[in-house]
Amino acid sequence: MPIVTLLPSGRMIEIPSGTMLFDAACRAGLPVASSCSAEAVCGKCVMKIHSGPEKLNAPTEHERKLLARDKRDPAERISCMVHVYGDCTVSTSYW
Ligand code: FES
Repeated sequence: MPIVTLLPSGRMIEIPSGTMLFDAACRAGLPVASSCSAEAVCGKCVMKIHSGPEKLNAPTEHERKLLARDKRDPAERISCMVHVYGDCTVSTSYW
């Protein structure tokens, strides 16, 4: 099962393959910004991917549009649109 490392604490959580990144952080007890209840609308749940981007699903056209709309860093992903298939390391600006 994939392991997600959450920075800056370095806390690690093991999750079933295919789990949504948003849900993984919530399972770890960390808050995830959202005003759309993970419906891929608000773009607030963005997380920076520090390692393992190739272990995540590729961004959809909709996710790419949300990231471009908010002028996000290329290393950032909309966590409610990301499914985890291998080990990765992520952070947000507020953890
Ligand atoms: S929670 Fe709104 S886009 Fe992810």
